[in-house]
Amino acid sequence: MEYTVLGRTGLKVSVAGLGCGGFSRLGLGTGKSRAAAVALVRQALDLGVNLLDTAAAYGTEEVVGEAIKTVRREDVVITTKAWIPRGDGRRAAERAVAGLENSLRRLGTDYVDVFQLHGVSPEGYEQARDVIAPALLDQKAKGKLRHLGVTEAASEDPGHEMLQRAVEDEMWDVVMVAFHMMHQNARTTVFPRTMANRIGTLLMFAVRNIFSQPERLAAALRELTARRELPRWLALAPNPLGFLIHDGGAGSIVDAAYRFVRHEPGVDVVLFGTGDPDHLRANIASLLSPPLPMADRSTLTKLFGHLSGVGLDPPWGMPGSP
Ligand SMILES: NC(=O)c1ccc[n+]([C@@H]2O[C@H](COP(=O)([O-])OP(=O)(O)OC[C@H]3O[C@@H](n4cnc5c(N)ncnc54)[C@H](OP(=O)(O)O)[C@@H]3O)[C@@H](O)[C@H]2O)c1
Repeated sequence: MEYTVLGRTGLKVSVAGLGCGGFSRLGLGTGKSRAAAVALVRQALDLGVNLLDTAAAYGTEEVVGEAIKTVRREDVVITTKAWIPRGDGRRAAERAVAGLENSLRRLGTDYVDVFQLHGVSPEGYEQARDVIAPALLDQKAKGKLRHLGVTEAASEDPGHEMLQRAVEDEMWDVVMVAFHMMHQNARTTVFPRTMANRIGTLLMFAVRNIFSQPERLAAALRELTARRELPRWLALAPNPLGFLIHDGGAGSIVDAAYRFVRHEPGVDVVLFGTGDPDHLRANIASLLSPPLPMADRSTLTKLFGHLSGVGLDPPWGMPGSP
């Protein structure tokens, strides 16, 4: 495993972080058992992953709590989240503090490394900053959380409006941002400011459905070419991203997707979500592989650099989630 420093938190974190949400939810989302989910987290820990990203909404905090019983608490970085409805007035702060207490109980720990507000929309940002964050900073002073973070509601905020404000406010030490081969706009709108302000970044949506399900990619390309946002050959080609797979290049589209985001300046940790032990091994290998060849990166930027909001799949339950 390779390790890096998560911005100004100073936390030493693995460059590959296990996402315990997404559609897989460690396998719980596809009908696997809780024991298999615990084993998957332990497999990740054995391979050197030390950052585990979960959330109240995922239903995986107890799995994470169970899995980390075999390691020292200080050897693992736990990031979790609470989703707070908009427009809840002062009750929003109470809800967030109660959410933190519940997460601590489910995780079986007395602190979380990063407590994040989950899927904050541009409209919800002022409440997050002015009402909820101060209450959580009181909890930080009590030692219940080490750092405060915020995650975006990617599908409703493809231009990163919320994060563009958050990166200028001093309370957020960590942000979670969507970035992938066909949604590259964080390169100019978010990463220059997180790097300047030494804010830690957790990357989500590297693969999601668009790069793990060929039919989803084909449908997206058909839609984008119909809107004349992409050249027509991309919708007609049997394997439109096949140019990425060659000797010295990527081994698969999923491999390309993880390697593309991993080496982007400004990306600290790439979260990957899976319920499959073989995928877990393969994804860590991808994230530890060299960057894609320069020519392939340039082609991806030339073809897709102007796109925004592609492949940020429909949420279940809340904006921009799971
Ligand atoms: N707003 C937010 O706060 C927010 C929103 C979204 C995500 N997140 C966080 O980001 C994490 C990462 O997102 P994500 O879970 O969607 O992860 P992802 O890594 O972008 O995509 C995971 C999807 O790809 C599949 N997959 C993974 N590895 C594969 C492989 N080697 N070959 C084929 N298919 C593969 C998985 O299915 P299998 O189970 O079959 O591997 C799953 O369906 C989440 O778990 C969560 O922690 C946060």
